[in-house]
Amino acid sequence: MTVILWIIIALAAGAALTIMLTGFGKANKKPVLKKTPARYVTVTSNEEIQSFMDVYNLEWKPDREKTPELPPEIEKVISGIENISPLITELSSKLNDPDINPKDISKIIIQDQGLTSFILRRVNSPYYGLLQKVDNIFNAIVILGYNEIYRIVMEERTRKIGIQPDKAEWVHANLTSNIAAYLTSVSRLNVPGGTMVTLGMLHDIARNIMYRSLPQPEGGFSIDPRQHLKQEIDFYGIDHATLGGILAQRWSMPGRLVSCIARHHWPMFWPLRDLAQSNNDIIKELSILAISDIAAKNFTQEITGPYIGDDYYRFINKPPRMDSILIPEITRDLRRIRKVTIDSEETSDIIEQAV
Ligand SMILES: [Fe+2]
Ligand SMILES: [Fe+2]
Repeated sequence: MTVILWIIIALAAGAALTIMLTGFGKANKKPVLKKTPARYVTVTSNEEIQSFMDVYNLEWKPDREKTPELPPEIEKVISGIENISPLITELSSKLNDPDINPKDISKIIIQDQGLTSFILRRVNSPYYGLLQKVDNIFNAIVILGYNEIYRIVMEERTRKIGIQPDKAEWVHANLTSNIAAYLTSVSRLNVPGGTMVTLGMLHDIARNIMYRSLPQPEGGFSIDPRQHLKQEIDFYGIDHATLGGILAQRWSMPGRLVSCIARHHWPMFWPLRDLAQSNNDIIKELSILAISDIAAKNFTQEITGPYIGDDYYRFINKPPRMDSILIPEITRDLRRIRKVTIDSEETSDIIEQAV
């Protein structure tokens, strides 16, 4: 009897202990630490991390540590190019200034007669389809906006030193610059607008020089932008981004512009977190530029898809989809630009006539 009693007592104690422990366990269960994710990493599951990191699993990447060297034949080509006008840097920084006004900008431009007439011819060309004739730079700025006038200035200044884009290059630069201006305003990253417009127009400037002055590989270049970069290095010993950086440096452009031009394809190769560590001062500009570049190529259907990891898209506050970037708000302007390549001779001639 005593044994049975003891067994009952032991069982009851065990059950009580189990309840206590379970309850205790619940009370003490540590809440899952919801670490505030870094601004640029908002992934929610390991699977998602894996899928966006896969983008960076590449067989080949450029050598980030290598000090760029100029192959002699390329040195020969670029040593013949004059310095670009300091007006570019001057206007770029003026456009970054929140107190900018059309009077100041037109005062700077009208000092150069050739530039003034180039702008007025372009503004009055059928390309813009303005109903009234514009006869002064002040009105041109008021009607088309600072960015558009500044793009024309950059075009005129690069042509002046012998860098003439073909239609496809012209379209790509203008599309990238327009998309970059839009992303700058909606990303709320506090990136200077003038700098982004400049980068959009000039990021591929060396590509133009390389393809004009040097032989092309048999079978041409790959459509894939990463593969393309590798081919340039294999074929020329240097890629167009690195060469563009060298040129910009020789032209005494600000260091941040130089670095952005030289590294504009890096976001296709390394995650944001990684690049941000060594390029903290330019990571915002670099992210907007790289995405604008890819979006421009999607718009002209040269490539399809985001090409850059979701981390960069999230950083600039956009979902990683082209339809979230190429939205109706900007596509009207983008279509007008693209018309130059796909449309009749008529529109294409407009660009050429104006020079
Ligand atoms: Fe490029
Ligand atoms: Fe580009």
